[in-house]
Amino acid sequence: MVSQTETSRPKSHAPGFVELTAGIAALAGLLFGYDTGVISGAVLFIKDVFQLTPFTVELLVSAALVGAVIGCVLSGKITDQIGRKAAILIAACIFIVGSIVGAIAPNIEFLMFGRIAIGVAIGVASYTAPLYISEIAPPHLRGALVTLNQLAITVGILLAYVVDAIFAPHQAWRWMLACGVFPAIALETGIAFLPETPRWLLLKGKKDEAVSTLQRIRATPDVQAEIEDIAEHAGTGHGKIADMFSSSIIRVILLGAGLAVIQQITGINTVIYYAPTVFQAAGFHSNEAAIVATAGVGLVNVLMTIVSIPLVDRIGRRPLLLTSLGGMLVALVCLSLGFATGGSLLKWIGVLSLIVYIASFAVGLGPVFWLLISEIYPLKIRGRAASIATMANWLSNFLVSLTFLSLLNALGNVTTFLLYAALSAAGLVYCFSLVPETKGIQLERIERNLRLGRRWRELARIN
Ligand code: BGC
Repeated sequence: MVSQTETSRPKSHAPGFVELTAGIAALAGLLFGYDTGVISGAVLFIKDVFQLTPFTVELLVSAALVGAVIGCVLSGKITDQIGRKAAILIAACIFIVGSIVGAIAPNIEFLMFGRIAIGVAIGVASYTAPLYISEIAPPHLRGALVTLNQLAITVGILLAYVVDAIFAPHQAWRWMLACGVFPAIALETGIAFLPETPRWLLLKGKKDEAVSTLQRIRATPDVQAEIEDIAEHAGTGHGKIADMFSSSIIRVILLGAGLAVIQQITGINTVIYYAPTVFQAAGFHSNEAAIVATAGVGLVNVLMTIVSIPLVDRIGRRPLLLTSLGGMLVALVCLSLGFATGGSLLKWIGVLSLIVYIASFAVGLGPVFWLLISEIYPLKIRGRAASIATMANWLSNFLVSLTFLSLLNALGNVTTFLLYAALSAAGLVYCFSLVPETKGIQLERIERNLRLGRRWRELARIN
């Protein structure tokens, strides 16, 4: 059996407190979505003001992605050393500075610096927020609470489209960038009042603080068993570099990095960043159609992420992941066939395929990737391991975004979408054969199985 729920663990938690904590941490997701999305509208005006070449436009658009990779590389160790909360606080601070620098930039160099800084913050926030939520949440709610972060990402993307649309008639690109300051201030203020995670506190030997925090979270004085469980794995201090190279750790790092790459190479951001281009290729030529298409994609993304929240702890991570990749595969094959046959139906095949594609991603691969990388790593090196998976995610994102338009030119629509379909099929096989079901399982159980040398697929086995 690999997919049962751990029943011996306490299910109590302080009503409202855990949800509020997760909600505040998820503001990091909102900033991730907003700041990656906002540039697509702003760049239309920036390129005229600073007279940018097509190459500089590409550099500006991808600056945040490069920054995100840098952010992951620099922050993994910090997250383990100074804590999840401190890492989020630093990220919020950089979000604030980056937004202001971007908004007041007198030249393109300044603006580029602001966007790279924002990228660094996105890189740090993208994995520390799910990690923080996952270490606070009780096992039976962990999936739903961590998925709040993905919901916030999708809301952030949608919000960026809306803000861009509001300011576009006034060509007010500085305001588009400046608006990111508000959620960043809310994150900075909110997180300052929240506790560190009991797991990280134990890792640092701060037992009394860990006990009182866990009592507050679980709304019961009776947390001794859970504390002992966590303490057994925390040992003392954070793991050494050598710990990262033990065979069991390398194995699980590879599992997460594989998932990270799959989340991106199946093409999600070709749709998120280039939906209007795809719709135009399918035959919708007006600007209005492009706007409706972009907003529609954003809305379906939000709605289907909401659908995934109650499902992820009920039917589990694996079924959602497999259904998701299956749906994306079918949608991509249909899109490719639509382009191959052409004709008047192509428009509608295009619309339908993209809706099915984005809905499928949103219900599974989107949230489940971030959830799994907050669950599968041992406590001692959790921050660093999650930062490696996140770096793989941002690097793949960068490569896919950079190559998409060239692929369309070189291979044509039919082959390009077939290529993403083939990669989705490969992702489906990977997830089916290797990904464990972590629904309802205590994080320490996963760690114990890892130490016992269990196969990837059996990392959440109860006996
Ligand atoms: C992905 C992003 C993507 C977003 C879309 C996230 O899970 O990591 O690359 O843009 O979902 O909702």
